[in-house]
Amino acid sequence: MDVFVVQGGTPLRGSVSVSGSKNAALPMMATALLARGTTVLRRVPDLVDVRTLSSLMKTLGCDVIREVDGSLSLEVIDEDCSEADYDLVRRMRASVCVMGPLLARRGFARVSMPGGCNIGHRPIDIHLRGFTELGADVRFESGDIVVQATQLKGAEINLDGPRGSTVTGTCNVMSAATLASGRTILTGVALEPEVVALAEFLNAMGANISGHGTSTIEIEGVEALNAVEQTVIPDRIEAATLIVAAAITRGTVTIDGVEASHLNAVIEILREIGVTIEETGLSQLQITVDQKLSPVQLTALPYPGIPTDDQAQLTTLLATVSGKSVVRDQVFPDRFMHCAELNRMDANIRQERDRAFITGVPQLQGANVMASDLRASAALVLAAMAAKGETVIHRIYHLDRGYSALETKLNSIGANIIRCREEDLSQLQDSPAKQLRRSA
Ligand code: EPZ
Repeated sequence: MDVFVVQGGTPLRGSVSVSGSKNAALPMMATALLARGTTVLRRVPDLVDVRTLSSLMKTLGCDVIREVDGSLSLEVIDEDCSEADYDLVRRMRASVCVMGPLLARRGFARVSMPGGCNIGHRPIDIHLRGFTELGADVRFESGDIVVQATQLKGAEINLDGPRGSTVTGTCNVMSAATLASGRTILTGVALEPEVVALAEFLNAMGANISGHGTSTIEIEGVEALNAVEQTVIPDRIEAATLIVAAAITRGTVTIDGVEASHLNAVIEILREIGVTIEETGLSQLQITVDQKLSPVQLTALPYPGIPTDDQAQLTTLLATVSGKSVVRDQVFPDRFMHCAELNRMDANIRQERDRAFITGVPQLQGANVMASDLRASAALVLAAMAAKGETVIHRIYHLDRGYSALETKLNSIGANIIRCREEDLSQLQDSPAKQLRRSA
């Protein structure tokens, strides 16, 4: 397993570019199962979750090739196997995104029940309710979910759940409904840009979807969908992570390739904290910190609210801001595992139910910490860059699932992050990072 050894304390300076969105790319890849011909997706980030879904798609008879120009080509060459293997599904929950396309195109899908998750309880009951209302038979067999239908039929379906809308649930049911007979009306749908991007992609393939981006989506079923080329939208979560990286190191950073309109809620709260964020060009933001930052109260909500996927990063920034802040997560109320690790770095955070009560400290201190999930890993990298001294972050495989070469990007603007194998670290006796840096 790899670890990061981070030497903190340097303000970041320079320019860095955002990759394509992981959470937009994954459902788009799965949707290629619906199409005739070769789908080409440009700006697909090169990260572990994309590779895991590529492996799964191959087991489902889809040829997946990463071209030399970085685009991903996907072509279904065999429709015999519609069973998603436990070993791949347990590695990545987003594997459930293949269920809707398989059901619609092949009339059958068997997908291993996704297990527990480090960010809390993540049921898929709303996905399954949507399939049932489209006329599918949904059953559980030996830990698998089996969905089956000869012909899906349009229906009126409410996708609202106890915590609001579901992102991958909306993607799944919307994809399935594209080939259903008649009209489907989905209410209580997710408004996230990744859902809108998927609807636009499906329409480019020949689907007839309207209302995406509002709470009601209408889908007029069509006979078939044809493969197209499409570019994946910029990753708004990576962009927010980079903005916080600039802010927490009190640096000056230009971030290219962003879609600022997807970041409104995050930009607004960061400005309230006191971070200066300027649109300096088309798809470009400049981040500076030229005043004392202030504590805030914020709540992570479904889009257009502050994303839960940015909650850990914002919590980390606030841990360095003098005064008392409160961070609440209404989407995943248990998503606070980073707080205990941040406290190991001398942060002062008390977590209670769905809230983190933060008392800002003047200086975080380097420590040995453990990443627990994707965004918690990013939070620890941010904390480590701001901390005094050296931080060793264990289990960074979580980070590799969802960020494309994050340490390379951060090092290019002045961070000091070394990746090494855990075994190499423990072999070194004292001050391991010093020796590693000497040999690097
Ligand atoms: C997507 O997960 C993202 N994943 C997550 O990003 C993100 O945190 C989440 O949306 C919320 O924005 C991908 O897009 C691949 P949900 P998803 O269904 O779709 C409850 C990251 O860090 N719910 O929108 O699985 C659920 O428990 C990841 O990149 C039900 O009750 O999330 C949660 O409280 C992690 N029943 C809320 O809805 C259901 O059937 C929102 O979950 C489905 C969800």
